[in-house]
Amino acid sequence: MKVLFVCLGNICRSPSAEGVFRQMTAAETDSAGTAGWHVGKPPYGPMQEAAARRGYDFSDLRARQFTQSDFERFDLIIGMDVSNLNDIEALRPSGNATRVKCFTDYAPHTGMSEVPDPYYTRDFDGALDLIESCAAGLKAEIG
Ligand code: 4NP
Repeated sequence: MKVLFVCLGNICRSPSAEGVFRQMTAAETDSAGTAGWHVGKPPYGPMQEAAARRGYDFSDLRARQFTQSDFERFDLIIGMDVSNLNDIEALRPSGNATRVKCFTDYAPHTGMSEVPDPYYTRDFDGALDLIESCAAGLKAEIG
């Protein structure tokens, strides 16, 4: 199973999702951003610091941009918000049937329909709380 986490910049939410989920699973993981602004950069410092306080280290990750070829390379593509999902779907090759989900689909008990962007909200711990809940639900579904 190959899972790709996607957000806008690939420096806050999707690397955090990958960093949390990769500790729980045997699935192959990666992350990408729909925008190319931060390509090659490590995850955002304040995001890494909040995650490190919970024992997560994803300082090895580097941002890359989501591409159409990701539809062929992954079994499951997970966006963080509706805008990500729209940007992902806009690149879907014709005839491709790869499953695309919102991360919050895996944590319906939270009542959240998106992972709010902590780059703007500055609520890094709130984002991590939600990401941990979603990762647990994803683990329950795919192992
Ligand atoms: P992310 O957050 O999509 O969770 O990585 C963002 C990080 C940077 C920017 C936007 C969102 N930015 O505009 O630079």
